[in-house]
Amino acid sequence: MKNIDSISHVTGRSLYVDDIPVRTGTLYGAVFASPVAHGIVHGLDVSKAEKINGVEAILTAADIPGENQIGGIIPDEVLFADGKVEFNGQPMALVVARDELTARKAVAAIKADIEALEPVTDAREACEKDMLLVPPSTFQTGDVESAWDQCAHIFKGRTESGGQEHLYIEMQGSYAYLMENGHVKIRSSTQGPTHVQKAAANVLGIAMHQVEVDVTRLGGGFGGKEDQATAYACMAALAATKLEKPVKIILHRMDDMRMTGKRHPYSADYVIGLSKDLKILAYKATFYQNGGAAADLSPAILDRSLFHSTNTYYIPNSKVTAYSCKTNLPPNTAFRGFGGPQGMFIIESAIAKAAHELNMPARMIQQKNFLKEGDHFQYGQVAKNVNIGKCYQRADEEYHIARIEKDVEKFNEANQWRKQGMALMPICFGISFTNKSMNQARSLVHVYQDGSVGVSTGAIEMGQGVNTKILQVAARTLSISPDKVKVETTNTTRVSNTSPTAASSGADLNGKATEMACKQLAKRLRRTAATLLSEKPANITLQDEQVFVNGVKSQLCWTELVKKAHLDRVCLTEQGHYATPMVDFDKEKSKGHPFAYHVYGLAVVVAEIDCLRGNYHFEKVLMVHDFGNSMNHSIDMGQVEGALAQGLGWMSMEEVAYDKEGKLLSNNLSTYKIPDIYSAPREVQCVPLPTKGPKEAILRSKAVGEPPLMYGIGGYFALQNAIKAFNPDHVPDFNAPMTMEKVLMRLYQ
Ligand code: MTE
Ligand code: HPA
Ligand code: MOS
Repeated sequence: MKNIDSISHVTGRSLYVDDIPVRTGTLYGAVFASPVAHGIVHGLDVSKAEKINGVEAILTAADIPGENQIGGIIPDEVLFADGKVEFNGQPMALVVARDELTARKAVAAIKADIEALEPVTDAREACEKDMLLVPPSTFQTGDVESAWDQCAHIFKGRTESGGQEHLYIEMQGSYAYLMENGHVKIRSSTQGPTHVQKAAANVLGIAMHQVEVDVTRLGGGFGGKEDQATAYACMAALAATKLEKPVKIILHRMDDMRMTGKRHPYSADYVIGLSKDLKILAYKATFYQNGGAAADLSPAILDRSLFHSTNTYYIPNSKVTAYSCKTNLPPNTAFRGFGGPQGMFIIESAIAKAAHELNMPARMIQQKNFLKEGDHFQYGQVAKNVNIGKCYQRADEEYHIARIEKDVEKFNEANQWRKQGMALMPICFGISFTNKSMNQARSLVHVYQDGSVGVSTGAIEMGQGVNTKILQVAARTLSISPDKVKVETTNTTRVSNTSPTAASSGADLNGKATEMACKQLAKRLRRTAATLLSEKPANITLQDEQVFVNGVKSQLCWTELVKKAHLDRVCLTEQGHYATPMVDFDKEKSKGHPFAYHVYGLAVVVAEIDCLRGNYHFEKVLMVHDFGNSMNHSIDMGQVEGALAQGLGWMSMEEVAYDKEGKLLSNNLSTYKIPDIYSAPREVQCVPLPTKGPKEAILRSKAVGEPPLMYGIGGYFALQNAIKAFNPDHVPDFNAPMTMEKVLMRLYQ
């Protein structure tokens, strides 16, 4: 089935926050943000700005009737700076004006009196100064210290991975207006409507039931709107409440890039120990996460880095400690993979280092250490339905890995100034929120009198196709045509207490809840049909909009049945509540069963560099991916291709740069490069691993949103191997992204 949004997307009819027809009297907000990264605020001179014709108000922390606090996991983030500023781009005031240009003009006329203090932008420096957002976290298994003696080879090193700008097409935005009795309605570009509702209620000093949040869809979120749409929603709600006028705020691209957090850069030290026959016996590492100026989601992201710190390998003795460091940068936040990619880059670097020192391809080590059925992860969960071995086998059958390796060698022998490199990237990604309580969802299903169906859930559509999947679940469970089903906007008054659509579990959680509601409705309708046909309910089935008795088609169709059920006063509305069974994790002990299941996969990546210029392209990315029993092949393939491009971008060309003063240098699309069609790999193939899929996944179709991003990590190592083919003296270092400039330097190192 096609993505239900495809026609409206290509014809420009899809609605985003900025497309909502505005109400009469709507005002426009623009944010004044700190021009320095760290300092004491002595005052804000708004005298010039206030006088500009069309300016209605300039709101600051002093105007907040409730609490100046929007922190998610810990309450450490103010809506407007108060007394001090902690990052360049931190909101200090909101100008509200009759039109947007005036609001922006007024912002430019505001002067802040700030006594600048020394900023800290480096995670390790912050850690040395004891500037931590939360206490450090450690995962361990076995006894790493006593394992070193058994190791034939021990290697150590350091790695760095950079930040990443989400670059969703739709900027952060919100539109808020008053309903009756001080109630406020917020249209927001958020992945987490409940978080917006809760934070807005807190800022306004009212109860959650007085705030309604509604989301039609996002023009991409990628994690960047899991937490960080909240501030702009709260500002619009505050202004709307104060001025009793509708207020809209849409960030411009450069403001969005400057003011919002990104993927966390990580710096890490590792030690890896191997036996003579290349078994990884011990792994020890320390991670320094650059958290930015407030916690945001950093603690949960830190945890996921630890969960994925051994990727798809079984390592009997390991100890990994991670520090979430407070720096004077915008609070870094969720980004597809949620810390997993950073953790995986570090273990893959350690393996690449060992392979380099032992003078062999990394795949010899990777393959030897793949997780096997019944192995336990570092965090205690026993690995079930382990598919990594099967993915490798399938990849070898389909793509002939040794042959690709040979072809790369032949190419390198034949070409003096062009070199290729190959790398394998195996992945293993845990599905569920690592915070147990978030693994729940609800769905509200109405069957209307005419037999059409409306479904509301907590899921946010952001391009990943979750609405299409939910629609498929409803249509399949009720056995009706997809045309009869509509997926409604995500609204906190219809479905409450939602988890953000994140952790790749939007379709699983909300799909399962929808399936439960639809099963109840179907059961009820079968009972009605049984009465109408004087049969036992057990003999009745609903199939293709028709009632069947003992497998024989009756005269009664879906539409007629629904109509009769309504006349008979049968309830045609149902709510499903789903809570993922089995998941549990003891944070104190760092042990448990946090994930409903894992997604596996393997990519073979070939990169090719021009050794005169240092520029490069990816020649091939050949994947075997564990979709389970995919319920929507075209959506799932879209997710694989999009995530791959984003992963390759993170590892190769996307370079977030701040200066020493904490000012963003890569603040627009001419200085921040993301992959475009010209940098797509020349050949991309993805074959599904044939499995029946776990029952924990909706319709046994595994979560797909984040895992394939990590195939991109293979791009780094493929480039590194190509460099080695040209410059045998090159000592690999692990400092991502591998930009073209870096490649050139390494070629002639
Ligand atoms: N795909 C598109 N097109 N746009 C997005 O913003 N976000 C990704 C992924 N795929 C995203 C996307 C992220 S970060 C997550 S967690 C999942 O989709 C969330 O959706 P799901 O849980 O429904 O897979
Ligand atoms: N993934 C994404 N978002 C989250 C998670 C997670 O594991 N935990 C809390 N928020
Ligand atoms: Mo995705 S980073 O969990 O929004």
